[in-house]
Amino acid sequence: MSPIIVAIDGYSSCGKSTLAKALANKLSYAYIDSGAMYRCVTLYALQNGMIKDKNFLPEEIIPTLPYIHIRFQFNAHSKTSDTFLNDINVERNIRTLEVADFVSKVSAIKEVRSHMVALQRKMGKNKGIVMDGRDIGTNVFPKAELKLFMTADMDVRTQRRVDELNSKGMHVNYEEIKNNLLQRDYDDTHRKENPLTKAADAVVLDNSELNKEEQLDFVLKLMHDLMLDK
Ligand code: DC
Repeated sequence: MSPIIVAIDGYSSCGKSTLAKALANKLSYAYIDSGAMYRCVTLYALQNGMIKDKNFLPEEIIPTLPYIHIRFQFNAHSKTSDTFLNDINVERNIRTLEVADFVSKVSAIKEVRSHMVALQRKMGKNKGIVMDGRDIGTNVFPKAELKLFMTADMDVRTQRRVDELNSKGMHVNYEEIKNNLLQRDYDDTHRKENPLTKAADAVVLDNSELNKEEQLDFVLKLMHDLMLDK
């Protein structure tokens, strides 16, 4: 089968990136975490004093976009890609609650989105990628050969995010994480620019009760069926 684009969209902390990484490894495809790109813009805005007292002006962020260089580099140790912002590895810095608190608002800025979408399309021009996010199947790659829409129970999602942050040594409060997820779901589904919504041709994957292997098998079966259809 010639290389395809796999677009994975869904709510925050539904395990999109875990599945996307496993699939990319299995297929020897590149994995692109589009959320990390919006997190980089948010981190840059925080580091450069553009977010003050929980407020920011889009007019201050937009002109800095040409100075924000984002790339992904494969890490042989973790067997996945790390995110680099202006040549600094920010894989850890972009996962803080401080970034999470602002990222949905920053990613709602029209100019931020069009800049990121142009970069994402460039990264996918040769296909052979798995990209996860919120608008990949609906906007970035509307013609992606395989589209998934992931969802899971809110408490399962919260516990997964708590465990993930704890495993990285960041000790967090369950309710605080849950509120952040609820707020991000609301912001992501209600924004004007390309809100999170299921593409008509996306396959829904509710992984509340599925382990990682079961999810990977589910997608590999879909790919197999896709191949038979060709
Ligand atoms: O996938 P994530 O949680 O790292 O994404 C962080 C935020 O970025 C998320 O709250 C919404 C935004 N995002 C987006 O608007 N569009 C994407 N394609 C990916 C992420």
